[in-house]
Amino acid sequence: MLANQKIIAAINEQIGNEFSAMLQYYAISAHFGAEALPELSAHFHRQAEEEKQHALRFIQFVIDVGARVEIPAVPAPQAAFNVAEAAVQLSLEQEERVTTQINALLSTAKAESDYTTDNFLQWFIKEQLEEVASMEQLLRVVQRAGEGNLLRVEEYLAREKGRGTASGEEE
Ligand SMILES: [Fe+2]
Ligand SMILES: [Fe+2]
Repeated sequence: MLANQKIIAAINEQIGNEFSAMLQYYAISAHFGAEALPELSAHFHRQAEEEKQHALRFIQFVIDVGARVEIPAVPAPQAAFNVAEAAVQLSLEQEERVTTQINALLSTAKAESDYTTDNFLQWFIKEQLEEVASMEQLLRVVQRAGEGNLLRVEEYLAREKGRGTASGEEE
């Protein structure tokens, strides 16, 4: 086995964190769908799919190093939000939390001189910078538009998507 048990346990926990983020984004996507905001709904649906890919990337890594995958229980996501800003704020906090989790994983890998895991985690370090930055950007757009002008946010997301630069488009 290429990674030690302590690292594998932490990665199994992170698989749960990624699935938890996935569920939260599907819940936010459903919330915006119910609020007749299709672009916001689609945007968060894409975020959810990305989180699923993150979870699968960790799962494949555990298999590759010859260890056992143990997916932990995942808490129910928050389903309702009073204002759009609250959903995006929660998303930003989630991305910041995941960044802290990935950093902690990397610290453990370095402390254990586990260069295989260290190298694997570098992709996530880069990914989290993008995810936090794009969610921060969306939060500012939502705040600037205000709850009464969410159609402006819809237009913004449709435009960004058309340019192929909508946050979180790239793997
Ligand atoms: Fe993620
Ligand atoms: Fe994320």
